[in-house]
Formats: sequence, structure tokens, C-alpha cells
Amino acid sequence: MIFLELEKLNRIIRNCKKCELWKTRTNAVPGEGPQDARIMFVGMAPGRTEDIEGRPFVGPAGKFLNKLLESTGIKRSEVFLTSPLKCFPPRNRKPLPKEIEACKPYLLKQIEIIRPQIIILLGEVALETLLKRKDVSNVRGKPIEKDGIIYFPTYHPAAGMRFPKIREKLLNDFMKLKKIIQKLQLS
Ligand code: URA
Ligand code: SF4
Repeated sequence: MIFLELEKLNRIIRNCKKCELWKTRTNAVPGEGPQDARIMFVGMAPGRTEDIEGRPFVGPAGKFLNKLLESTGIKRSEVFLTSPLKCFPPRNRKPLPKEIEACKPYLLKQIEIIRPQIIILLGEVALETLLKRKDVSNVRGKPIEKDGIIYFPTYHPAAGMRFPKIREKLLNDFMKLKKIIQKLQLS
């Protein structure tokens, strides 16, 4: 798979049957954004709207993410948006560890192809999948460098929509993100 480009990888993901979720999905959601994006956002899993449209972050959490992006001056069209899990878990349940394990190679491949400078980890599933830790509240809002990539953990926008205290912290983290991105001249 070494020289595979994003489009070819997307085709593989859309036909994937590596875990049981292929049976209940309408569309797999590989992610979207330019192949040379400098900024990547990693969420959790597609929701119902994403499953229907086959596109990431187009439901309520995505609308909230759009607002967060606007607040930082980051253009949605410039970033790559995806999730550790590419298919909708029925009834919106949390992804199972074995599903994440099956799907994770696609995310790693996307990172390898795109080579973003910064990856924003939206919530615990993204943090655990890429940095093997679960303590979002301890590590949020601070950059962590690993293998030449800056990781920036924060909460998932869906959590921010539900809990005002988390929303406040999420907004705060995005202000810090804005400064980091300006410093790196990524946007
Ligand atoms: N939440 C996610 O984590 N990913 C999506 O694509 C949509 C909602
Ligand atoms: Fe394949 Fe991932 Fe979908 Fe499972 S969730 S079927 S591993 S693309």
C-alpha cells in the first residue's frame, strides 16, 4: 500500500469488510480534504448523517466543528477531516476496541500519505488510537510532539454541544490552537 494515493485508499475503505460494521453502514466515510493538507482533525466515528452522505462531520457535531473552525480562522476546505472508525456504529454506540483495531491502519495510512504538520485529536477515542492514552482532561489544549508531528488533543465537539463546561474548555483550546497555527503559518 506504500505508494497508494488518497483516492485509491478511499475506494478500498468504501468496500472494506474488515469488521462487522460494513453490514449496517449505508456509506463508509473515509474522510475529506486536500492530499497536501497541513492540518488534520481526527474525530471518533461517523454519525447517522455522515453515514447517509458518506462525508465526515456533516451532522450536528460537524456544524459545531464548523463554528469552532470559523472562530480560529481555519478554512474547512484546507484541512483534512476524518475519524479512527470509518463506518457508523449502529444506534451511535461507542466504537468497540476490535473495530478500532481493524480500522486503524486506514487512519495511519492517511497520516502517512498526507503527512500533516498538526493533528487535532477530538476526544478520547482519537487520543487513545493515536497516542495510546485516555486522559483528555490532563493533556488537552497542549501540543505533544511525536515522530515529527504535533498532536493537539481536545474534547470532541459532540461533548461540547452537550455540556456547557466542556464547550467553554473546547473554545479555549481552539483559541490556543489558533495561536499555534498562526505561529507555524499553517493557515
Ligand atoms: N463525529 C465524528 O467523530 N466524526 C464524524 O465524521 C462525525 C461526527
Ligand atoms: Fe472496514 Fe473500518 Fe468500516 Fe470496519 S469500520 S468495515 S474496518 S472501514
